[in-house]
Amino acid sequence: MHQPLDVERGTSLRPYNTFGLPSQAHTLVRVSTEAQVRQIVNHPELGHARKFILGGGSNLILTQDVMACVIKMEIKGRELIETRDDAWIVEIGAGESWHDTVQWCLDHDLPGLENMALIPGTVGAAPVQNIGAYGIEFKDRFESLDAVDLITGRMVTLTREQCRFSYRDSIFKNLLAGKSVITKVRLRLPRPWQPVTGYLEIERKMNETGIAAPDARQIFNWVCEIRRAKLPDPAQIGNAGSFFKNPVVTEEQCRDIIGRDPEIVHYPMADGTYKLAAGWMIDACGWKGKSIGRAGVYDKQALVLVNHGGASGAEVVTLARAIQESVYGRFGIRLEPEPVVI
Ligand code: EPU
Repeated sequence: MHQPLDVERGTSLRPYNTFGLPSQAHTLVRVSTEAQVRQIVNHPELGHARKFILGGGSNLILTQDVMACVIKMEIKGRELIETRDDAWIVEIGAGESWHDTVQWCLDHDLPGLENMALIPGTVGAAPVQNIGAYGIEFKDRFESLDAVDLITGRMVTLTREQCRFSYRDSIFKNLLAGKSVITKVRLRLPRPWQPVTGYLEIERKMNETGIAAPDARQIFNWVCEIRRAKLPDPAQIGNAGSFFKNPVVTEEQCRDIIGRDPEIVHYPMADGTYKLAAGWMIDACGWKGKSIGRAGVYDKQALVLVNHGGASGAEVVTLARAIQESVYGRFGIRLEPEPVVI
C-alpha cells in the first residue's frame, strides 16, 4: 500500500549537515521505504527534477541553497540474514547510523566493523566514499547493496566489483552520482573473526595496556578513545571529518619530496605508489588552530576543518583554498577535498 509522499518546501538543511552550514532545500522528501523512492521516480513533478541524496550530511559542504529535490534517506532495519562457514551476512537499511550499526553488530556477537567505530554518517553513505579507518575500509566488509535507479525506478543489486571502490571513492561519486539511491547494504563479516591491529595507534594501545590479543570490544573501545582524543564531535563543533584526501604520488615524486622534507609522513601502497599524510603537510604549513572568519583548522588534527559557530559554506571554501595554495606552494601537491561541495 502506498503512503502519500510528504513533499516539503524551503526546509532548512542546517540541522542535517554536521558542519552546521546554512542552506535551504527547495524541495525535500523523507523516505523510509524503497516504495517511496520509486514513487518519487514516478511522480509527475519530482520525477523530472534533479535529485540530491542526503544521508547523515557528514561529508557535505553546503555553500548555497539546494535547488535539486533532496531525498532524505531514512530507511531503517538491521538483520543477520545468513550464516556461512566463512562469514556472517547482515542486511542494514541505508538510513541507519553507521556507528550505531557497528555497536549493534558487536552487541549481537557479529564482530568485524570495530576499527570503523565512530565514523559519522549513515550506512547508505558508507559505500559512496568507501569509508575507512585504522586499517580497514568499508569495501573489505562489503557483500552487496540494493539501489533504486532514479531514471527507470527499477531496483538493482550491485556487487563489490560493480561498485568500483577505491580510496574514499566509488561509482556513486562518479558515474552514478545523483542517478541512484542506495536503499539497503549487505555487509560480510568474516568468520572466524581476526583482529586488525597493524595500525600504529592501535599498536600503541596494545603496548600501553599490555593486551596483546584484544577482542573486538577492546578494539572498538580503543578506536573510540583514539578518535575522541583528536577528532571533534560534530554535536559540539561542526565538522565533516577529514577535509582532504591523503594524496597518492609516484615513488619518484615521494623521493623528491623526502629530499626536501625528510620528516614527511608517507606510507607505501601495494601498487608501488605512496600515500602522503595531508594532515602532516597542512600542519607543516602552520595551519593548525588557524581560522579564516568563523571557519578554522582543528587544533588537534590539521586535516579537519571546523565551524567555530555561524560559519558560511563560502568561508569554509575560502579557508580550504588558502590551505590548498600553501600546501601547493611548499610541496607542489594539490590537495583534493574529501567531502562533496555543493
Ligand atoms: N599528522 C600531523 N599533524 C596533524 C595531523 C596528522 O603531523 O595535524 C600526522 C600524524 O601524526 C600521522 C599522519 O599525519 O603521522 C596521519 O595522521 P592520522 O593517522 O591521524 O590519519 P589521517 O591520515 O589524518 C586517515 C583518514 C581518517 C581515519 C584515519 C585513521 C583520510 C583522508 N583520513 O586520517 O578518516 O580516521 O586515517 O585510519 O584518509 C575521514 O575520512 O573523515 C577520516 C577521519
